[in-house]
Amino acid sequence: MKFFIDTANLQEIREAAAMGILDGVTTNPSLMAKEGKPNNKETIREICGVVGGPVSVEVVAIEPDAMIKEGEEYAGWDKHVVVKLPTTKAGVKACKALADKGIKVNMTLCFSPNQALLVAKAGATYVSPFIGRLDDISENGMDVIRNILTIYRNYNYQTQVLAASIRHPMHVVDAALAGAHVSTIPFKVLEMMFNHPLTDKGLAAFLKDYEKVRKG
Ligand code: G3P
Repeated sequence: MKFFIDTANLQEIREAAAMGILDGVTTNPSLMAKEGKPNNKETIREICGVVGGPVSVEVVAIEPDAMIKEGEEYAGWDKHVVVKLPTTKAGVKACKALADKGIKVNMTLCFSPNQALLVAKAGATYVSPFIGRLDDISENGMDVIRNILTIYRNYNYQTQVLAASIRHPMHVVDAALAGAHVSTIPFKVLEMMFNHPLTDKGLAAFLKDYEKVRKG
């Protein structure tokens, strides 16, 4: 499974990259706003330089032609940029046009297997089902991931399933068990994944025993 980090915060991205397990980054207008600025070449290129892998940059245009223009601009910023588009009728149309030009697209705000089927047909590189937001409204986000994976396997679609809106470590485990290609993980959840009380307890005991014999 590939690990992307779901943030536009450069410090978090640097820390995750230093862990040696980071494959990519996903941003969106809300995450950019959290950092105090909208999509800009300087920040995105800096993120690309740190991660050296796919970095999703989301368009804010809502009409196909404007989406395509904005997507082409972002794709020109760095070879690692993946253009992120909403899963709307306009977004699917823009996806097809950008994919035909060889530009990688991540289709976001996907909430159903039908939407995932549409974006695969339009040549998306990634589809991002939002599992946390489905859970929030008493639907089962992980069932949607499983159903999309089954459909993609049935027809050998190459679109990768990117589990998004991950809220806790078990979302990552369940997405991995389902076979999702990528999880995009908030920094806080990534840190939680390292923790196990028995690791801490066991390490403390090993170090204590080592100290006993080291002192003689
Ligand atoms: O990757 C999508 C993510 O940024 C949305 O997460 O927690 O706002 O539903 P959340």
